[in-house]
Amino acid sequence: MTPRTPLTPEFWDHRYSSTEYVYGKEPSDFLAERFAELPAGGETLCLADGEGRNGVFLATRGMRVTAVDNSAMGLEKAERLAAERAVALTTLLADLAEWDAGDARWDGVVSIWAHLPAPVRAALHPRLARALRPGGVLLLEHYHPRQVGYGTGGPDDPTMMLTLDELHAAFPGWARVHTFEGERVVMEGSGHGGKSYVTQAILRKPS
Ligand SMILES: C[S@@+](CC[C@H](N)C(=O)[O-])C[C@H]1O[C@@H](n2cnc3c(N)ncnc32)[C@H](O)[C@@H]1O
Repeated sequence: MTPRTPLTPEFWDHRYSSTEYVYGKEPSDFLAERFAELPAGGETLCLADGEGRNGVFLATRGMRVTAVDNSAMGLEKAERLAAERAVALTTLLADLAEWDAGDARWDGVVSIWAHLPAPVRAALHPRLARALRPGGVLLLEHYHPRQVGYGTGGPDDPTMMLTLDELHAAFPGWARVHTFEGERVVMEGSGHGGKSYVTQAILRKPS
């Protein structure tokens, strides 16, 4: 299936080119509810952070945040939002298909609506497993492949979406602090709106 949403940074630069924040300035509902599961004050990586609403929120809660995305326009807006909220945010322009997240470098990794092609996820997940410190936490909400029928957000291609089975296979032996696959109403800016089918996970790396 050809995805309706092109995957290029140019697409996202264009999407982020207005002054409006496509997903709003407030954090994702799931992150706002569950951020306390992340190690307090820790080095926290926000994957595909776009215009920065999630990274900036975590910075206001005392985390030391690095936001990585491959849209320069998104990260520019993220920096603007951080300045508006008077918090520090490190931004990094990089392609998650190849970016090296380091070794035992992060206390928390956050991945919200970071939909990536299956081969990119397959290469990224082992890098993330290595990059989190023992006891570190991965907090994630993505659309589930069933979302495609809902038409309320996300790419048209179910292979870009994520299941718990895939996650558990990628992070074997990690504590399942929270896992959920099912419906929830997502109202996050003009980019996501309505009843949706999501995958949520909070997984802790063994100490
Ligand atoms: C649906 S948006 C979500 C943005 C943000 N996480 C949020 O919830 O507001 C997806 C983001 O993934 C980024 N992205 C897509 N493919 C990427 C890649 N290969 N490397 C880095 N970022 C990527 C896009 O630039 C975009 O900002």
